[in-house]
Amino acid sequence: MYTEKVMDHFQNPRNVGEIEGASGVGTVGNAKCGDIMRIYLDIDENQMIRDVKFKTFGCGAAVATSSMATELVKGKSIYDALQVTNKAVMEALDGLPPVKVHCSLLAEEAIHAALWDYAEKNGIKIEGLEKPKSDIHEGEEEEEEEY
Ligand code: FES
Repeated sequence: MYTEKVMDHFQNPRNVGEIEGASGVGTVGNAKCGDIMRIYLDIDENQMIRDVKFKTFGCGAAVATSSMATELVKGKSIYDALQVTNKAVMEALDGLPPVKVHCSLLAEEAIHAALWDYAEKNGIKIEGLEKPKSDIHEGEEEEEEEY
């Protein structure tokens, strides 16, 4: 049920680890399943992402999507990194089973949280970046209540 690319990134995740003194760190969890992801960004003076590492305590799909997300943002400007959505990550992995789509949101939110941390540390505003949620399930609950 998983594509070859998902299995590859799950079994050999890229960019696992931590960055000491990172420019920005973002941690996001999903209270529903209890999974947590942390992303570390090293951003240079030209606002380019020089390096990125992640740690995921979560399911296989969460590991695979974080791995692919780090590959997609590495070497990009912070603005291009903002465009890396969970959809883009899923496409790069040749798709995810529908029940696992929410797992890919962790990676997108964790990158946004790390960019937010970087912006706060440097007193800048990143156009198009909204304050990230620390729990991706928060949004789901609000939506459920509305309908
Ligand atoms: Fe929790 Fe996948 S089941 S992130």
